[in-house]
Amino acid sequence: MRFGGLTAVREVDLTVRSGEIVGLIGPNGAGKTTFFNCLTGLYVPTQGTVSYRGTVLPPKPHLVTKAGIARTFQNIRLFANMTVLENVMVGRHTRTKEGLWSALLRGPGFRKAEQAGEERSMELLEFVGLAHKRDHLARNLPYGEQRRLEIARALASEPGLLLLDEPTAGMNPQETRTTEELVFAIRDKGIAVLVIEHDMRFIFNLCDRVAVLVQGRKLVEGTSDVVQADERVVAAYLGEPFEGDPGEAEAAEVEAAEVQAAEAGSDTETADAESTSTTKGEPQ
Ligand SMILES: Nc1ncnc2c1ncn2[C@@H]1O[C@H](COP(=O)(O)OP(=O)(O)OP(=O)(O)O)[C@@H](O)[C@H]1O
Ligand SMILES: [Mg+2]
Repeated sequence: MRFGGLTAVREVDLTVRSGEIVGLIGPNGAGKTTFFNCLTGLYVPTQGTVSYRGTVLPPKPHLVTKAGIARTFQNIRLFANMTVLENVMVGRHTRTKEGLWSALLRGPGFRKAEQAGEERSMELLEFVGLAHKRDHLARNLPYGEQRRLEIARALASEPGLLLLDEPTAGMNPQETRTTEELVFAIRDKGIAVLVIEHDMRFIFNLCDRVAVLVQGRKLVEGTSDVVQADERVVAAYLGEPFEGDPGEAEAAEVEAAEVQAAEAGSDTETADAESTSTTKGEPQ
């Protein structure tokens, strides 16, 4: 995917199989969201194709959804002034005869489809733990619940593959754990999941396989264990060292700091890993 002179995603090849949870990680600006936008037809890739169940998909969002791929957005996209239930029901529009506008304008055709859809939508709200909020306006939900509502709305299109773009951004640890359980439950329903996250603990707990994007290219792909142990991944997240040799003074300074850190206790490494995993979390 090229934007003028910038190649945001370059020759990335990725397969997600039924029953799998696959992670997509990488530093800010690596091209993760752009990759999702290419998969879902929001962007028309400059080169390359997206196939689903053996069929090449046209780069049109509604056709991609119809084919069976649903997504959530890094920057939450809900109908803020509609209720929780209505948001999920609108998500069903690709699965009903009635179109999106009919759903939004609530014509007579929509009312009929509505009754059939309501039951299923409530099931989904139950599934994500928001049934008790059905009549609340989406904009009044706390942040974490808005993210779960987006997942329910995505599930309403009855996808075979769900793409999640930073589903735990802005969540507290408790909410993150709940979301982890939710993603496992989605997988157990037979839906394949491709998930972007900066929370490494979340990713490595959850994923059968992880791909790492750096500057638009796929750097590594493998099981959580393999990726976690890969030095290039650590380097990609912590940044490359300065060009050229550091001066002797700097080297001595680093050495002293390392000794000090080692003396400060064995927790240091964990703390570092944590701060790395939470540097990102701002919604975009
Ligand atoms: N529509 C666009 N026009 C021009 N450049 C774009 C566009 N969309 C994305 N980019 C650029 O592509 C690169 C990748 O951005 P992208 O949002 O995909 O990164 P990301 O990996 O999702 O980062 P983050 O972790 O911060 O969400 C960036 O340099 C971004 O500025
Ligand atoms: Mg992104």
